Amino acid sequence: MIPDLKNAFRPFQRSGAHGALYCDGVSLETLGRKYETPLYVYSADQIVERLEMFQRAFKGRDHLVCYAVKANSSLAILKLLAERGAGFDIVSGGELERVIAAVPKAVGRVVFSGVGKTAAEIDRALEVGILEFNVESEAELALLGARAKKLKVRARFALRVNPDVFAETHPYISTGLREHKFGIDIRKAAELYRVAARNKWLELHGISVHIGSQIRSAEPFGAAMERVCKLTVQLKREGIVLKVVDAGGGLGIDYHSGGDAKAVTPAVKVEEYAAAIEKALAGFEGKLLIEPGRFIVAQAGALLTRVLNVKKNGKKTFVITDAAMNDLIRPALYQAYHEVVPVKPRAGRARSVDVVGPVCETGDFFARDRMLKPVEAGDLVALLDAGAYGMAQSSNYNSRFRPAEVLVEGKEHRLIRRREELKDLFATEVLS
Ligand code: LLP
Repeated sequence: MIPDLKNAFRPFQRSGAHGALYCDGVSLETLGRKYETPLYVYSADQIVERLEMFQRAFKGRDHLVCYAVKANSSLAILKLLAERGAGFDIVSGGELERVIAAVPKAVGRVVFSGVGKTAAEIDRALEVGILEFNVESEAELALLGARAKKLKVRARFALRVNPDVFAETHPYISTGLREHKFGIDIRKAAELYRVAARNKWLELHGISVHIGSQIRSAEPFGAAMERVCKLTVQLKREGIVLKVVDAGGGLGIDYHSGGDAKAVTPAVKVEEYAAAIEKALAGFEGKLLIEPGRFIVAQAGALLTRVLNVKKNGKKTFVITDAAMNDLIRPALYQAYHEVVPVKPRAGRARSVDVVGPVCETGDFFARDRMLKPVEAGDLVALLDAGAYGMAQSSNYNSRFRPAEVLVEGKEHRLIRRREELKDLFATEVLS
């Protein structure tokens, strides 16, 4: 085994005498040849396994895992999850339509989050009968009440409160502090519930919280839940009974776990997370929703790319790939770390290189000063842990075609999104 992939947390493992990279039972070399690159490759088995980890960890309580669609919104992935009982956390009308297109009957398991919902988005969600709106402001609550009255349907809602809890993560994806744009100050929530209780078009359903993303420790989740639980108890005393607590998403993964066989397993991480939430919620008897995105899909996916050439500028060596920041923006946007591994390793010592894309920006990099085994033009390399916020954040920047996606199911594989073509590139544009 090659030391770059010692542990078995990922579906991407080396196999055979030459240590070629596989996704479960399928060789990445085969996929690269058949579908070309850049190509997102996902393991269906791992996605299902991760969903089931959450379902198992919370089995002692009535719960629903509402997968955060934004992490990876490909229809085939939504279908895979819906068929195993997942609900969905959405943040736009577009995401709602994706759920409806993938599995229409899953619409009753949708929670609608997001800091700014339009009247049209609210109307559609009311018409199709989603599970709950997570309301982010007093103004939005008023809008929801007005739309519900107009359509003559009651709107089930939760207030998304801002618990003022600090969670160690990248500042762009931390959301639970008072200074952030998210949620309603937890100190003002009780008053809003009282206002809502007087509106017959608003059905008091729950309370929700989401403190940020890529949070590696269970502690802040517990701290946020304690504050939420305290509020539900206080409200109950006033006769306002909430049926649902939504703990949000945010559980992080180990992007660096390449060489550490003893790292805490994902199953243990989920158990620790569940234990922290359950401990804080001991006094609450209702239903629990959670909204994990990254933890379910990130490690199930890799971005497969071909080396265009290797070039030296001064002391630096650049490995230029056919994937770029438009395909996977996380390194450029958050200085995020993704393992880079050659698909068919060559003999020779690792050396320090920058792995970069062809886009005309210095920020277009995947890895800087990274020790990488020798690669040559034409070789395939995989960027690991790219299943979450990879394809979902891709763009046409530099007028590049967005990549294709393949789902591996054991030894089988199938295209779940074709590569964009010229006809897609300016399909929406108007010339004169
Ligand atoms: N629920 C809400 C209300 C959210 O805003 C998010 C993520 C989630 C659930 C899912 O969080 P997760 O379990 O995936 O951490 N693009 C960034 C991540 C942005 C997360 C935004 N909200 C990245 O690539 O790291």
